[in-house]
Amino acid sequence: MPQPKLLVATRNQGKLEELQVLLQPRGIEVMSLDAFDPIPDVEEDGETFVANALKKARTYCNLTGRPVLAEDSGLAVDALGGAPGVHSARWVPATDRDRVEALLARLKDVASEQRTARYVSVIALAAPDGREQTFQGTLEGRIATAPRGTGGFGYDPVFELSSGRTAAEVTREEKNAISHRGKALRRALAALEQFVNP
Ligand code: IMP
Repeated sequence: MPQPKLLVATRNQGKLEELQVLLQPRGIEVMSLDAFDPIPDVEEDGETFVANALKKARTYCNLTGRPVLAEDSGLAVDALGGAPGVHSARWVPATDRDRVEALLARLKDVASEQRTARYVSVIALAAPDGREQTFQGTLEGRIATAPRGTGGFGYDPVFELSSGRTAAEVTREEKNAISHRGKALRRALAALEQFVNP
C-alpha cells in the first residue's frame, strides 16, 4: 500500500524546499497547501511557537484528513527582548528586505557583542487519529551590521553564524546541517515515520 503523503502546512517556498531536502531521502513524499487550494489560512495568533505550530497542524489535519507537519519559526534578538519572535514574518508588513532594514535600524546603536540572536523552529505533527507531538531546534548567531549573501530567505543575509559568514552566504546543505529547522526536523524524523505510516 502506498504511504499517505505528508501535508507540509506552509506556503513559504524557502521553508518547503529546506524541509523537502531532508524528507525526500527518507522516502517521505510531501505535498504543500497549494494541492488543497482553496483552503483557508490559519491565523497564527498564539503567543508561542509551539501554540502556533500545533494550531496549524491540528487545523489542516482536520480539514484534509492527512497527516500534517506544521512549522512555526522566527528570530529572537536578545537586544530587542526576544523580538520579533512569533511575529517575525509580519512585524513589518512588507518584504523580507524591508524587515531586514527595520531590524538593522533598531539595532543601529547596539554594539557587536550585544547583537546576539537565535532562530527558533518548532515542528508540530498531527495525525488523523488524534496524535500530536512537537519538536524544537535553535540556531545561535548574531545580527550583522549590513546584509551579505544571496542564499536562504528572511533574515538570513544579516544572520551571522559562528563562522562569521551569514546564513545567506552558505549552501542550502550547509544551512540544513546546522539550522534550527534541520535540528527540529531530525528530532521529529522517527516519530514522523510513525505518523505517516501508522
Ligand atoms: P512563520 O511562517 O510564521 O513560521 O514565519 C517565520 C519567519 O521567521 C520567516 O518569514 C522569517 O522572517 C523568519 N525565519 C524563520 N526561519 C528563518 C530562516 O531559516 N531564515 C531566515 N528567516 C527565518
